[in-house]
Amino acid sequence: MDDQIIENIGCLLLPNAGPLKGEAMKELPVRHQAALAVKGEQVVWTGSTEEAQTRKAHQRFNAEGKVVSPGLVDPHTHLVFGGSREEELALKQAGTAYLDILKRGGGILSTVRATRQADEQFLFEKARSFAGRMAAYGVTTLEAKSGYGLDEETELKQLSVIDRLNNEGLLDIAATFLGPHAIPPEFKGREDVFLDQMIDLLPVMKGKTSAAFTDIFCETGVFTTEQAARFMEASQRHGFQVKIHADEIDPLGGTELAVQYGAVSADHLVAASAEGIQQLAASDTMAVLLPGTTFYLGKDTYADARRMIQAGAAVALATDFNPGSCVTHNLQMIMALAALKMKMTPEEIWNAVTVNASHAIGMEKTAGRITVGGQADLVLWDIPNYKYLPYHYGVNHARAVWKRGRLI
Ligand code: NIG
Ligand code: FE
Repeated sequence: MDDQIIENIGCLLLPNAGPLKGEAMKELPVRHQAALAVKGEQVVWTGSTEEAQTRKAHQRFNAEGKVVSPGLVDPHTHLVFGGSREEELALKQAGTAYLDILKRGGGILSTVRATRQADEQFLFEKARSFAGRMAAYGVTTLEAKSGYGLDEETELKQLSVIDRLNNEGLLDIAATFLGPHAIPPEFKGREDVFLDQMIDLLPVMKGKTSAAFTDIFCETGVFTTEQAARFMEASQRHGFQVKIHADEIDPLGGTELAVQYGAVSADHLVAASAEGIQQLAASDTMAVLLPGTTFYLGKDTYADARRMIQAGAAVALATDFNPGSCVTHNLQMIMALAALKMKMTPEEIWNAVTVNASHAIGMEKTAGRITVGGQADLVLWDIPNYKYLPYHYGVNHARAVWKRGRLI
């Protein structure tokens, strides 16, 4: 007997196996009048609502003709941080650029101060509250980065919070060590010395945390492409897979670098060059696009998703949730921005927040798709069809969320 049957599903979204590159992103297989059965943590059967009538189950859940998708995957967040930065809103309104706020010791550095001061339990409870809300919005798997410590103690504190949250089991969380996220003021003019220290921390992070990835902020006034290359090379030597904040504001060539180092993902890519996009398309690196950040920074130019998909690249979407450049953990809002600002189609968008997002964080075995034998991470959406979600923006359409077969 099955534990649960979810029946009368108007439209069941069944993304293909990924990573989905270029044209393949346009395909979103669906099944109408569908049903599925869950036993323990797994999906054990999918079929039609009619067929479901003959299966025995402890519990039956009526989806009332609505949409069911795999649990969403948010592959880029800065979930764990102290403080908040609402005072920077006025600076932004007065026209101060994001990187100028950072140059003055604000921005990321202001969050570094607050995160260093906060004790671990406080950070844990704060991150757990955000994670709970993300789950309520349909996210069942995510990635979370350190990067607001820039020192051993605080980076470990952040990663410990991420590991504890992951162990609690509400969501599956992939951890990323983002030690080189900014230059601490005391290292001004000695950036390479600071980077050496972050490289020295790699074995510590490997030994004491579950972080499988490293990341670096490659940007004007932060880390150069040479420094990013050095960090990625060292990370790989210590057994990490690499990610990079690339070409977010200025076109430095971070996209090309990501491809050169076989990065699992290159994130932002707003200013990626045409050549970088071609290289990306020919590589296994996932383009993780973060339109919420472009929106929040008040820029007019978004990452060129159309060009990337046309070139044959694989694209994923994420919130980039953080206290400075994208203060939302609502991935549904990001799906709307992807449609409105980057002209992605509904099919591309759903693939980008499920199967492709899972590949961006090495979680494709457990997340991003609905398969018999696969983990039962599911969302019931209170929408008449899947095209509706990016159209009706700014509200939560998730009606029920199952994590590992359990309704949360
Ligand atoms: O992805 N760009 C660098 N890091 C974050 C912002 C972090 C912050 O402002 O606190 C980002 O946008
Ligand atoms: Fe980020």
